[in-house]
Amino acid sequence: MKIRTAVIPVAGKGTRFLPATKEIPKEMIPILTKPMIHYAVEEAVLSGIEQIVFVTSSGKTAIEDYFDRNIELETFLERAGKGELAESMKKLGSMIEVTSVRQKEQLGLGHAINCARDLIKDEAFAVILGDDLVRGSNPVTKQLIEISAKNNNSPVIGVMEVPKEDTNKYGIIDGEAINGSNKTYKMSKMVEKPNPDEAPTNLATPGRYILTQEIFKYLDEIPRGVGGEYQLTDAINAMAKNTSVYAHIFEGSRFDTGSITGYLNATVEFAMMDDQYKEIMLDICRENIKKYE
Ligand code: G1P
Repeated sequence: MKIRTAVIPVAGKGTRFLPATKEIPKEMIPILTKPMIHYAVEEAVLSGIEQIVFVTSSGKTAIEDYFDRNIELETFLERAGKGELAESMKKLGSMIEVTSVRQKEQLGLGHAINCARDLIKDEAFAVILGDDLVRGSNPVTKQLIEISAKNNNSPVIGVMEVPKEDTNKYGIIDGEAINGSNKTYKMSKMVEKPNPDEAPTNLATPGRYILTQEIFKYLDEIPRGVGGEYQLTDAINAMAKNTSVYAHIFEGSRFDTGSITGYLNATVEFAMMDDQYKEIMLDICRENIKKYE
């Protein structure tokens, strides 16, 4: 089954990045020349997704505008003889179909996904959390779509191994590796942010999911969970009791750009991975080590 839609929740206030996020959405903070949200949408496009549903809140219109055409800017660039830039702006504005829905109260990730339900129609869909960027030759959402297709179009959660002391930052899965694989698990349960001594495994999701319509039944039923919020993890856990849900250890490097440390790390590494900026960043690092070490 084709996965056409990706839901990207962007309603959060981004308090960790204040004051930068006082007037702009945190998703618009750039890493090199692209805002963070660009990387998440790019992952979706490279995974064959045709429509993005942003779950937004007030003050987030810059995100939708960013993925829209800006004819005035394109014309200006053309007239200024910057045809190549004009062309790339045109491409960006036509990259993907974007719709959005408001999450009127911040009641958790489960609630955010439930807000998108009318825009998804009757299909399976992907969820991408833009605070976690994953880079690699094969986009992580594409990897999960492939695992879902191989397993009866079932829901699949993307996971990675984390240090045991970090389990309280993530949704953690438990399950059994399926025949012939040491990367794909049939899930038995999923727990939101367990303490390390209670965590069933160290397999954590950085926010990559392939979900079927069935999830909405569980999202309607779950009570408030960790932090008093409606947790997507709790709905997936309930679903896994009744239907086959898989978890897959994806390939790729993951960056937690929701934290300042992760953001700094991503900025340095993305520059190192870019032919245009690699040498510049290496020079900057060398100079600064000499100065400050
Ligand atoms: C959310 C999810 C959690 C997931 C995490 C990934 O938590 O609830 O299961 O592991 O994103 O970043 P948050 O970090 O929004 O509290």
